[in-house]
Amino acid sequence: MPDVDRRQLAALSFKAMSEIPTLETKRLILREATEAHASDWQKHFDDYEVIRNLSHFVPWPYPEDGALSFLKNLVIPNQGKDRWVWGIFLKENPNELIGCVDLWRQGKPENRGFWLSRKHWGKGYMTEAVEPVTDYAFNELGFSVLCFANAVGNAASRRVKEKTGCRLIGVEPAKFVDPKLTEHEVWELKKEDWLKFRA
Ligand SMILES: CC(C)(COP(=O)(O)OP(=O)(O)OC[C@H]1O[C@@H](n2cnc3c(N)ncnc32)[C@H](O)[C@@H]1OP(=O)(O)O)[C@@H](O)C(=O)NCCC(=O)NCCS
Repeated sequence: MPDVDRRQLAALSFKAMSEIPTLETKRLILREATEAHASDWQKHFDDYEVIRNLSHFVPWPYPEDGALSFLKNLVIPNQGKDRWVWGIFLKENPNELIGCVDLWRQGKPENRGFWLSRKHWGKGYMTEAVEPVTDYAFNELGFSVLCFANAVGNAASRRVKEKTGCRLIGVEPAKFVDPKLTEHEVWELKKEDWLKFRA
């Protein structure tokens, strides 16, 4: 094969490897998060009730360019390599990002984060969103086990895990944006348990 074809092929296969697939559920579309979503991200994420439950690395007060700088510097360079960040969109309003599911290879100990705009809480959206992401992690990305965590007291996040077959393995000290939160629950989901749960 001529060198130029070989280079084109290599570029194509790299592109394919680094692309993040669009995932669909009954009510949601999950699309690769990009800079184009920064203003929706900023609008919905800049809310203490959303941010207080997240790691203390998230700045509060949230800077005006917080979403754009997070997407540009931490998400986009790693998308599809060791991090997969999907924006969540309602099928009934498919152009507005209302939340995200963030998956990463290197456990901290957890491999996933998520948030949803407050006005959409309590409708089962996050439980719905994590299902295709979990399928993708086990079936396409080769994870054999996923680790999740939430602040002790974050009942909604805990419930999403309970509803998706995860097993609580312990409680450890952890730091969050809300200084009153001082511990997190650590959960595990093994591929074989997920496949049984899905069946
Ligand atoms: C966590 C979060 C993503 C959940 O999203 P959601 O779409 O509302 O979640 P779901 O509707 O799928 O499930 C939430 C479950 O928690 C339950 N729940 C919510 N608040 C609760 C509370 N205070 N006490 C007990 N259960 C509660 C809901 O009733 C629901 O369970 P059910 O279906 O059995 O009734 C959303 O609350 C959020 O963005 N929180 C702020 C950011 C955050 O905490 N991210 C996770 C960090 S680990």
